[in-house]
Amino acid sequence: MWRDWVRPIVRPLPQWSTVAIAPSSQGVTATLHWDGKSADVTQDHTVASLKPLLIATSVDAGHHAVLEYCDSVTGTTLGVLRLVRATFIAVEGTPLFLYRIAAGQHRCLHWPRRAWNAWLQNRLMLKSRAPHHLAMEPAAVQQLMIAYLCPRPVVLVSVGAPDHQNIFPMDLIGPLGRSGLFSLALRSTNVSQPVMRDVRRVVLSSVPAAMKSVVYKLSEHHKQALMDWSALSLPVRLSQQFGIPAVAEALRIQELRIVQSQEIGSHTFFLCRIVSDENLATGTQLHHTAGFYQAYRRRRNRAFAEV
Ligand SMILES: Cc1cc2nc3c(=O)[nH]c(=O)nc-3n(C[C@H](O)[C@H](O)[C@H](O)COP(=O)(O)O)c2cc1C
Repeated sequence: MWRDWVRPIVRPLPQWSTVAIAPSSQGVTATLHWDGKSADVTQDHTVASLKPLLIATSVDAGHHAVLEYCDSVTGTTLGVLRLVRATFIAVEGTPLFLYRIAAGQHRCLHWPRRAWNAWLQNRLMLKSRAPHHLAMEPAAVQQLMIAYLCPRPVVLVSVGAPDHQNIFPMDLIGPLGRSGLFSLALRSTNVSQPVMRDVRRVVLSSVPAAMKSVVYKLSEHHKQALMDWSALSLPVRLSQQFGIPAVAEALRIQELRIVQSQEIGSHTFFLCRIVSDENLATGTQLHHTAGFYQAYRRRRNRAFAEV
């Protein structure tokens, strides 16, 4: 059909694809390279802040490093981020290294479509940017999409305090493997941010892909706390030790103790220890990945199931 070849010329790919993936079967490996050394950081790098865009890892990769994302089946490079050390923080005596992104490029689309698609995406971002909104620069969003070559699982975060309860979705989360820490990057304007810093505990529910619309609806609670747990339209179960309501249909429920939190740019970076980890069901979990990576997989008849 003529539309199939005209569409990429006039319309950009979606920035993000919402996909269904079985936990731990994402198929992308992340490797840090520096000074002739390298380390697998697939389970040891997360986003610490969006503005500025910072990547955290517990690997000391020197002052300049390259983060390479590869297809773990074929070994093909999908994209790279060039990193420059911004700072480091110590958490319970363990150093974590924060890198800003100097440049990035993906290889999911061939040139010239790669450049043209980025231009169309950037133009759309600038056009739809609300005035005074704390939006990221288009170049930083392009770099963030490269970081999403490793599909990011979506969880619902429950917060419970005597006079405050809430549940909202997050995907800027993940393990910092070598340190044993687990991080969450939450916009500092989130209504529960001060409560989380105070009570120092949260519960994560890994949500099945089929729950996408419920999960997206709950993003309103980034700004507005939940009035009452009974006001929630989905069934809950109490977490094992904290007794905080979590999603009854979750694939997995993890209780996290927050050991440190720190405002970094636009976000508060929470460093946590896992207190309990219940695997409750099998099935596909809601994930986000870059639209250009889904297009890459689609060309190879390996597209993730979209939800
Ligand atoms: C699936 C999903 C995951 C999200 N993950 C995060 C996150 O990890 N950190 C965060 O600060 N906000 C997260 N958000 C919230 C949004 O980025 C945004 O802050 C919120 O919806 C308010 O939007 P606005 O301030 O742009 O109107 C998430 C939202 C959705 C729907």
